[in-house]
Amino acid sequence: MAQTADHAIGIDIGGTGMKAGIVDLAAGELISDRVRIPTPEGATPPDVLSTAKDLVGLLGDAAEGLPIGVCFPAIVKNGVTLSAANISDEWIGLEADKLFSATLEHEIHFVNDADAAGLAELEFGVAKGQPGLSIVTTLGTGIGSAFLFDGKLVPNTELGHLIWRGTDIEKWASASARERDDISWSEWAARLQEFYAHVEFLFSPDLIIVGGGVSKNPDKFLPLITSRAPIVTAQHRNNAGIIGAASLALG
Ligand code: BGC
Repeated sequence: MAQTADHAIGIDIGGTGMKAGIVDLAAGELISDRVRIPTPEGATPPDVLSTAKDLVGLLGDAAEGLPIGVCFPAIVKNGVTLSAANISDEWIGLEADKLFSATLEHEIHFVNDADAAGLAELEFGVAKGQPGLSIVTTLGTGIGSAFLFDGKLVPNTELGHLIWRGTDIEKWASASARERDDISWSEWAARLQEFYAHVEFLFSPDLIIVGGGVSKNPDKFLPLITSRAPIVTAQHRNNAGIIGAASLALG
């Protein structure tokens, strides 16, 4: 297929699943199926790289020649991964963008997963045109965050690693903690309430956006959370990472 100027591939690498799709960046929408492969056990660099190659393969001929953006659950600075919370420690200090470029034979743009979700909401979603500070939180295997201030992303904020009750708050309040501890939605909402109240006290956002897979079921927990700022679900839900990563691929 001839390269289409406003189409790009987004790959979203999570602690549990790796997902990809082709995005129309004029509309901010997926124009292909969303393909998914479970994240390989241990999430080591070679296994994640070969799974990323398989994912692009699943997108078929339409993916050929398109630029690729990859979002990843770690601090990312200048294409280098600097942390590893729900993935192998071997990622710390790796030139991930170069490794992906070599494996996928494409130029790669690499970004933190929550920052990608934030960019999708900023360009195509509920944060578009919002003045002041919007805080996007992604509730999944961990808790990711993106700060959007007056239309610009402030990258690598890592609110999931606030220390709360002696541990990283994501270990206690993420969506995977709810499943691990087998607690009810209202018990989980009580944990989230502590998280959001603390975040609100620290940063006084104007808008709080809740994303991640669990934002498909907002009625189960969102009405139980109170906040000063409005708290809303992400428009792109589980596709935000793919869309945001793809939007960076076009530069
Ligand atoms: C990582 C973040 C990531 C978040 C959501 C955290 O454990 O440190 O970089 O955004 O999980 O995947």
